[in-house]
Amino acid sequence: LVTTFDLVEEVLGEPGGYSSVGAEISHIAKLGSDDEAGASILAEHFGVAQLNIADPPDHTRIRRAFGRSFVPREIAGYEERMRSIATRLIDISGHNGSLEAVSEFAEPLPVEVISDVIGVSEEHRAAIPGITLDQRFFFGENPPDHERARQFAESLRDWHRVLTEAIDHRRVQPSDDVLTRAARMIDDRRLTLTEALATCLHLIIAGNGTTTALIGNTLYLLLTHPEQMARVAANHALIAQAVEESLRFEAPLPRDRRIATRRAVLGGEVIHAGDRVVSVLAAANRDPLRFERPDEFDIDRSFTAAQHAAFGRGIHFCLGAPIARLEAKVAVEVFLTRYPSAALPDDFRPQWHPITTHRGLVSLPIEQQMAPA
Ligand code: HEM
Repeated sequence: LVTTFDLVEEVLGEPGGYSSVGAEISHIAKLGSDDEAGASILAEHFGVAQLNIADPPDHTRIRRAFGRSFVPREIAGYEERMRSIATRLIDISGHNGSLEAVSEFAEPLPVEVISDVIGVSEEHRAAIPGITLDQRFFFGENPPDHERARQFAESLRDWHRVLTEAIDHRRVQPSDDVLTRAARMIDDRRLTLTEALATCLHLIIAGNGTTTALIGNTLYLLLTHPEQMARVAANHALIAQAVEESLRFEAPLPRDRRIATRRAVLGGEVIHAGDRVVSVLAAANRDPLRFERPDEFDIDRSFTAAQHAAFGRGIHFCLGAPIARLEAKVAVEVFLTRYPSAALPDDFRPQWHPITTHRGLVSLPIEQQMAPA
C-alpha cells in the first residue's frame, strides 16, 4: 500500500514499472472454469485492451482515439444541458417538500450526461446504475461471488448487444456522439469492434458512479460545514474550489491498483516483479507533507487542481475529469439556488457505500422546503 503523495506520484508516473494490465483477469481467474458464473465472457471482456487496463502502446492508441471527445472545450458544450437536467430533477423531487439528494439527484444526473455524451438511447439509460453496481460488487469482493459474477456477465452480454446495434445504426444515421466516432474508427481500422465496445462501456460505467459520489460528498461536506456552505450559497464563484477541496478530502476513487513488472525499491521497500501495488489516492490527498491541516475541510485552501491525486496521475489521469468537475459545479449551483439554507436532519448519520473501492454516500436526505423557481 503506497500512502504518501510523492510515492503515489512515483508509481503512477512510471507505467513501464507498474503495469495496469492483469489485476482484473487474475480476479476473474478465481472463478475457475465456472461458465454458469459467466467466467468466459468476463475473461473475454476484460482481456480486451481498454483505457484503464491497458499499457502503452495499446493505451496510447486508444487514449488518442477517444481523447478528443473529452477535452474541456468539447465538454463545455454540455453545460446548459447539465443545468437543465439538474433543475428538472430537483424540481420534480423537491415538490413534495423533501429531496433524497443521492438517489433523486446525484445519481440520475451523471447517468443522463454520460448517456448524452456517448449516445446511449433513452430506453437503455435505466440499466446503467445496475451494471455499475454489478461491476463494483464483482471486483470489490474477494474472492468473487459466483452469483454476482453471473449477474454481471449477463449485464455485459446485454450491453455488448445494445452497443453493437447502436454502432451499426450510427453508420446509417451519424450523430454528434462518441458511438458515431467509434463507428468511424472501427471502419478506419484504428480500433477493433471489441475494443470500441469495451471502452464505450467503461466510459459509461466510469462516468456515473464516481460523479454521483463527488456530487453527494460535496453537498454533504458543505451541509456539515454550515459557515462554508453559507459563503458558497451567497457567492457561487466559490463552488469550483469547494468541489476541488471535496475531491481532495473525500476522493471518490480512493485507490488505484498496479502490478510491478520488475524489481524496484520504493520508499525503502523492495517491490518484486508481479507484486500488487496499491496507490491510496485518498491517503496521498491527506499527506501532511503536502497539505497543511490535511484532515480539515477548507474551501479556502490554496492549491491548484493539479495538486491533489483524486483523478490519478500520469498517463492514466482521468479522461472524464472535465465532465466530472463541470457536472459537480453545475449540480451544486442548482442545489444551492433551490436550497440556499438546507440542513441535514438532526439524527442523520452518514452511511458510506459498503464497497471500499468507492467513497460515496448511500443517501443524503434534505428536508427543507425549496426556494421558488
Ligand atoms: C469524480 C468523478 C471521477 C473520479 C474521482 C475519477 C477518478 C479516476 C481515477 C483515479 C482514474 C485513474 C485510474 C488509474 O490510474 O488506474 C480515472 C481514470 C479514468 N476515468 Fe475517471 N473519475 C471520475 C469521473 C470520470 C468520468 C465522468 C469519466 C467518463 C468520461 C471517467 C473516465 C475515466 C477513464 C476513461 C479513465 C481511464 C483513463 C486512462 O486510463 O487513460 N472518469 N478516473
